[in-house]
Amino acid sequence: MRSAQPLVQAKHNGKLARQITRPPILLKSSMRSKAKREKTIEILIVPNPSQLPNQKNVGITIEPEVIKDILSQAYKTVLITVINTEDDLQSLIERRPDLVFSGVKYFIFGDREIWLNDCLDKHNIRYIGSSCQALYKEHDKSIAKTIVKNAGLATADFFISSPGEHPTLASVPLAFPLFIKPVKGGDSIGVDARSIANDIDAMNAKITEIHQLQKTTALLETFLSGKEYSVGIFEDNTTGELIAMPIEIVVNENENGQRILDFTTKKNDEETVCKVTNRKIHRQLSDLAKATFTALGGKSFGRIDIKMNGNNTPHFIEANLMPGLKKGYFYRACSLNLGLSYAQMIMKIAHNRMSP
Ligand SMILES: Nc1ncnc2c1ncn2[C@@H]1O[C@H](COP(=O)(O)OP(=O)(O)O)[C@@H](O)[C@H]1O
Ligand SMILES: [Mg+2]
Repeated sequence: MRSAQPLVQAKHNGKLARQITRPPILLKSSMRSKAKREKTIEILIVPNPSQLPNQKNVGITIEPEVIKDILSQAYKTVLITVINTEDDLQSLIERRPDLVFSGVKYFIFGDREIWLNDCLDKHNIRYIGSSCQALYKEHDKSIAKTIVKNAGLATADFFISSPGEHPTLASVPLAFPLFIKPVKGGDSIGVDARSIANDIDAMNAKITEIHQLQKTTALLETFLSGKEYSVGIFEDNTTGELIAMPIEIVVNENENGQRILDFTTKKNDEETVCKVTNRKIHRQLSDLAKATFTALGGKSFGRIDIKMNGNNTPHFIEANLMPGLKKGYFYRACSLNLGLSYAQMIMKIAHNRMSP
C-alpha cells in the first residue's frame, strides 16, 4: 500500500481535475524525450466509497499517481480525473483528451449503466484496452469459451449449472473429474480444493456453494491436470501485430495433491512465476494466446490464461482483457519476456494507443 499523498484540486478547462504531487519515477534515459509530446492524457478513475478490493465496475485498479508520474515524463499534460457524475463524464468528452488511461468498465449513474469504452468510441476518443463488445465476451467465461471453441481452438469441454439442474449422474454431460468455478469473476474467487469434483455429490455441493456465496451460475469443465501458464499480449496499434509473452505459474500441491491457482494461493502470493524456456511450449502458448485474443476481438493488450491437459496440450482457460496493471502477472510477463521495466510497460501501453 502506498502512503497517502497530498491532493491538489486543479482547474482544467473550467472543470475540476484531481492532481496529486509526489516524487517522480524515473524512466530509463532512452524513454525520456527532452521535448515532451504536445498531448493530453486523462487518467480516469471512479471513487471507491466502501474501499472494496474488487469493484465490480472496475476492471483494472490503477495507482493514478504512479501512472501520472510515468506518463508526465513524455507527455505535456497528464491529469487525474475522478468521475462522480454523468456531468463529469460529459465534460471529459468535451475536453477531448488525446488518450483516456483507465481501468473503469462502466459507471452506474442512478439506475443506468454507461460503459466507458462504448461512450469513448461513440465520440472517437482513444483509450487503452479493448472495446466494450470484447469486454462483454470475456466477462462471461462460458461465452468466451464458446467463441474460442468455435474458432477451432482448444478449451476444455464444459457446461453450466445451477442448483437442481443436474440431479442425476445420467444428466451430467461430461465425465469426472470436473473442475467447477463461478462463470464470472476473477482473482480465483470461488476456486478452492472443492472445485475438483470426483462424483455427483461433490459436484452439486460446489454448484450450491457458488450459487450461495458468489451468487452466480457455475461453470463445469473437464479437469486439466497439467502445468499452468499465462500469456501477456501486446498489440501494435499501427500494424495490428501481436506480441505474445508467456510465463509459467508454479503452484504448490494442495491438501489433495493437486495444483490449482486457488483463492488462498493467490491471496497469499504463494505461487511463483518463471520464464517458459522450452521453445516448442513457448510457441504453442504464444500461438494459442494470439489466436484467442483475436477471436475475442481483443485490442491493445491483455492476458490469456492457459492450462495443459494430461497430454501436455495447451487449453484456453480464460481471457483477461483488462489485466491488472500493478506488479502482477502482466507486468511479470513483460519483464520476463521483453525485459521491460514497470515504467516502460506503462509508457508502451499509452504510446501504442496515442494518436500520431
Ligand atoms: N478446467 C480446469 N482444470 C483445472 N484447473 C482449472 C480449470 N479451470 C480453472 N482452473 C484453475 O482455477 C484457476 C482460476 O480459474 P480462472 O478461470 O483463471 O479464474 P480467475 O478469473 O479467478 O483467474 C486457474 O488459474 C486454474 O488453476
Ligand atoms: Mg485466471
